[in-house]
Amino acid sequence: MIPCDIYDPLFVGRLFDEMSRTYGVVNMISSLGFARRWRRQCLRSISIPRSAAILDLMTGTGELCPDLLRLLDPAGRIQALDISAEMCARARKHVSPDDSSRLHILQADALSCPIEDESVDCVVSTFGLKTFNSRQLTSLATEVYRVLRPGGQFAFLEISVPRSGLLRLPYIAYLRYVIPLIGRLALGNPDNYRLLGVYTSAFGDCRKTADCFASTGLAVEFRSYFFGCATGITGVKSRWKAG
Ligand SMILES: C[S@@+](CC[C@H](N)C(=O)[O-])C[C@H]1O[C@@H](n2cnc3c(N)ncnc32)[C@H](O)[C@@H]1O
Repeated sequence: MIPCDIYDPLFVGRLFDEMSRTYGVVNMISSLGFARRWRRQCLRSISIPRSAAILDLMTGTGELCPDLLRLLDPAGRIQALDISAEMCARARKHVSPDDSSRLHILQADALSCPIEDESVDCVVSTFGLKTFNSRQLTSLATEVYRVLRPGGQFAFLEISVPRSGLLRLPYIAYLRYVIPLIGRLALGNPDNYRLLGVYTSAFGDCRKTADCFASTGLAVEFRSYFFGCATGITGVKSRWKAG
């Protein structure tokens, strides 16, 4: 049975609190290593300046942070934000003392970021879009527009349902049956992993997200990874105000 409002940020935060212990291992096994490769491709899809101020939204346990730190010189800064207290706690455990001045983990809702206007060079985010409905995707796009400096870039990535009929059915079966089983084997709650499949089926792919971002005035490009098993968007905020 599907509970109340699965898009309520409080509900989503609690869901990931519960999954925090097993998320990393289940994600790695269930994606057959693709998740790691797609994260890197997502980061390579924009050109991140070495001294950039970066905002990593829906950071989880900080999966993008090691790659981001490698891209930056000592002047670069990362703010990594997640709504789940437990995911943030795990992300903080991975921050070495050497990196602590460059990487800050914040527990906050991405739909109302505690980040100053036009203070960020790049916004990046992987696998964090599926738990937003259409209205929330528009709010997210507005936040990304607000925090980006003129000329700033963004890159988002999400697991998606491929459009090809050949891949679509086995992929949905994989989400529905295999991932919850892997969740159970990792001693997690299989219902939580089943719910991730529900979010993904409803999300579809990043085309709707691309429209929401374009509606704020951001220039957006849609991207497909491995026959549409993941999709993403990249783009830029214009240096000039429309008008
Ligand atoms: C599937 S995990 C992705 C984690 C990581 N970015 C990765 O690449 O694996 C999605 C994360 O989004 C976070 N999240 C969902 N809704 C959020 C919101 N409104 N604000 C901030 N974080 C949110 C969840 O807590 C969860 O940690």
